[in-house]
Parts: sequence; structure tokens; C-alpha cells
Amino acid sequence: MTKTNLLNFAQPQLDEATIAAVVDVLRSNWIASGPNVQAFEQALSDSFGGRPTRVLTSATGAMEVALELCGIGAGDEVITSAQSFFSTMNMIVKVGAKPVFVDCDLETRNIDLAQVEAAITPRTKAIMPTHFPGALVDMDALFALAKKHGLRVIEDAALVQGSQWKGQAVGSFGDIATFSFHPNKNMTTIEGGAIVVNDEAEAKQVEVLRFHGIVRLPDETRDVVVAGGKFNMSDVSAVIGLHQLQQLPQFLAKRSVLAARYFERFPKIPGVVLPPQGVPDQSWNMFCALIPFERLGQTRQQFRAALRAQGVATGVSYEACHLTSIGRGLGCREGQFPHAERISRETVSLPLHARMTEEDVDRVCAVVLNTCQ
Ligand SMILES: Cc1ncc(COP(=O)(O)O)c(C=O)c1O
Repeated sequence: MTKTNLLNFAQPQLDEATIAAVVDVLRSNWIASGPNVQAFEQALSDSFGGRPTRVLTSATGAMEVALELCGIGAGDEVITSAQSFFSTMNMIVKVGAKPVFVDCDLETRNIDLAQVEAAITPRTKAIMPTHFPGALVDMDALFALAKKHGLRVIEDAALVQGSQWKGQAVGSFGDIATFSFHPNKNMTTIEGGAIVVNDEAEAKQVEVLRFHGIVRLPDETRDVVVAGGKFNMSDVSAVIGLHQLQQLPQFLAKRSVLAARYFERFPKIPGVVLPPQGVPDQSWNMFCALIPFERLGQTRQQFRAALRAQGVATGVSYEACHLTSIGRGLGCREGQFPHAERISRETVSLPLHARMTEEDVDRVCAVVLNTCQ
């Protein structure tokens, strides 16, 4: 299979105007954080209902800063899902806190809020849920629970930029939300992320935490008030983000059409679990199916290799966090979270990006059927 006719499972869409804007920034005198970062932050904030928004070099960095902003560290517990990308678990560990895993719903893959409540202890400081494409975590229940127990909420919204809850965009309400602009996401800045916070005081703290912990003194020297990181976005990335954000509605519309086509055409294989269908106002970053490999008598590795040989690249989103070496090191074991573990074993991310056509989806569905027979 040549690279040119391999259908990638994710791919950015960068138009000529964006490329020209990047060249303009490169020719300017300001390529690190500057006017484009400020403009991008303002545009993002507008898209999040005016809530204070700051950009960083990744969502992972944004999560680390979010935890620090909440004062979370040694001796604290943060409840998170066993089914998420590794950065949720990693950043909790990195700030010195303990990730307390709970299981997720099998179909939506979202964190099980009943298990969250059962896992709360006097040491719990925050809930860190990851939203999956197709259906958001029940926001009413999530924030009611957080309020009842006085907990912070750090939403991992990396996969759901543009999704809405009862008419409100993710990020436009709640506590803290983080977003990713990795090339696989709904829009990109090459690498990049954003954090949405409650007020300007928190936004100022983010600025300190993302840039060496530096505060400027009246005599124009600097103090360091905290051992901050280095997560500031470049103007090159920010100008890409500005252009991408303008095109986001088109990207999302295209992704929705493609997801609808998957639901229409996906082969009816017994034991397959597709994402939730029909929840209004959801953005479609990934289309992940559970495939009953054991029943089909093949491994996921064989299945993915067969798809690739037929021109379809796939991904795995995600391995169960609690069964990684880090998770096992925290005392986790197999059998603890059956849904997260089944997803980990059976999930395949199928191609879905704004450059695809409905015919591409048909091709993927035909190749899946062919491989499962
Ligand atoms: C659910 C989820 N959260 C967080 C991240 C981290 O994003 P970033 O690569 O911008 O750090 C990812 C990246 O794939 C993700 O899928």
C-alpha cells in the first residue's frame, strides 16, 4: 500500500490562506508568543461564551497547569476514568497527587458518575472526566456532584471542541476545561492546547504557571513565585489556530456527515458496539467501534494489519490507564474496571477527518465487512 492511497484515521486540513499566514508570521519579527497568541485567546474565549481562555503548547500541559491552579499536589486524590488518554493519569501523578480510577459506560465511554461518588474520600480534591465524541458526560449530574462534595472539576474536552450541552458549548460553563489542538483533533495548531478558567485572577495564575512562574515587578525586574513550567504557545501556532477556528464550523459539519454515514453503512456484525447515535449537537472527533475479536477468531493486531493492507489506517483509543505500568504501580489490577478493559481490548478508531468523503466511509465499511467475514 503506497502512502498516497492509504486513508489516514486522522488528518489536519490546512488551507493556502493558513499557510500564507504562517509565512507572514515567520517573516515578521515576532514568532514566539505575541500578538497572534493574544488574538487567538480572544477568539477562543468568544467561542467559550467569553470565559477567560489561555493557550498552551498542549492539552497535557494545560492539564498540568489546571491541577496546579487548583492547588492539587501530594496527599490529594483526583477521581478520573480508567478509560482516557494517558495524560489525565500522568498529570495527576506528575503533580504528586493520586489518580483514583473508576469505570466508564461501555457505549458512551464516559466516566461512571455513580462510581465517582462512591470513590470520594476526605482527600478527594477534583474530578477529572474525559468527554468522548457522541455524548458528553452528564453535565448536570457532574456539577451537582462536584457542588455537593465541594470538588473542583477539570474537564478533559480534548475530543469534544464544538459539542454542546443543552445549547451551551463545552467550555462555556462549568469550572475548568482543557482542549487539545493536536493534528488529530477537531482543529489544530500543530501542537497546542487551551485552558478555560473561571475568572481573570485564575487566568493570571495560568500565565504565571505556563511561563516559569515569573511575575513582573514594578522596577521591571522579575520574581519567580512558583516553579512554573514552559508551556507558552508560539505565534506561528496561534495564527494557524486563528484560521482553524474560523473554519471549525465547516470541519464539524463535515465530521457529522461522515459519522452519520458510518451509522448508516457500518456492517451489522454481532457483538459490535458503536458510539452513541442521535444525541444532538455533538462534535465527532473520532469514530471508535468495539469489535468482538475473540468471537471473530482474530486479534486486533491482525485486524488492523488487514485493514491497512486494504488501504485503511486505524488507531487504538485507548488502552486502559489502570493497566499501564503506572496504573499497576498504583496497585491496580485486571478485572477492576470491566468496561474500560473491554474497550481497551476491542476498540478500533476508524478514519474520520474533514478531508474525507462519504465514499471513503463506504470504503472503510466494506473493508471492515470483508475483514470480519
Ligand atoms: C482525550 C485526550 N485528552 C488529552 C489529550 C492530550 O492532548 P495533547 O496531545 O494536546 O497534549 C489527548 C491527545 O490525544 C486526548 O486524546
